[in-house]
Amino acid sequence: MSFTLPDLPYAYDSLQPYMSKETLEYHHDKHHMAYVTNGNNLLKGAEWEGKALEEIVKGSFGKNAGLFNNAGQHYNHVHFWNWMKPNGGGKIPGALEKAIIDGCGSIDKMKEDFIQAGVTQFGSGWCWLAVQNGKVVITKTANGESPLVHGATPILGCDVWEHSYYIDYRNRRPDYVKAFIENMVNWEYVAKMYDAASK
Ligand SMILES: [Fe+2]
Repeated sequence: MSFTLPDLPYAYDSLQPYMSKETLEYHHDKHHMAYVTNGNNLLKGAEWEGKALEEIVKGSFGKNAGLFNNAGQHYNHVHFWNWMKPNGGGKIPGALEKAIIDGCGSIDKMKEDFIQAGVTQFGSGWCWLAVQNGKVVITKTANGESPLVHGATPILGCDVWEHSYYIDYRNRRPDYVKAFIENMVNWEYVAKMYDAASK
């Protein structure tokens, strides 16, 4: 199985004012496309050729940096497009809301800690909600890594690489991560990943 670039699940201009058409055109069409192209080139002849994406990500971590970086970023971005939606934010589905309160203290505390994780990730990377040992936790990772390679299952991630926010927010990463967690999240998709991770 080779990597393919999925279509955005909404129109390029539909996340405005929080994320512009220009950002999505660059981020999806150029940056994600490059991970797909480079990943496919590096996968050729590698021992993980033909494996499922999650297996490639986990298997190449620590063993084949070039492949891991591209496969990891492909995995992260496939979900990132679905972690957002037009008119996002709002009510968190019941079972997930309960699990977040249980793991993070409260919904407000989860948002505060998620923003803090995104802001304090030095350089490029991601901040996350993940399920680890049955609990919802907040983490951050560098570059193309995700909780997947640190013994947890990601259920929500925010891309804090500059390519995700510099056109719209310049250097104001805190404003971007706040807008993401308050106004952009597709909580139904997060709930779906939480349900799958909890089985
Ligand atoms: Fe990105």
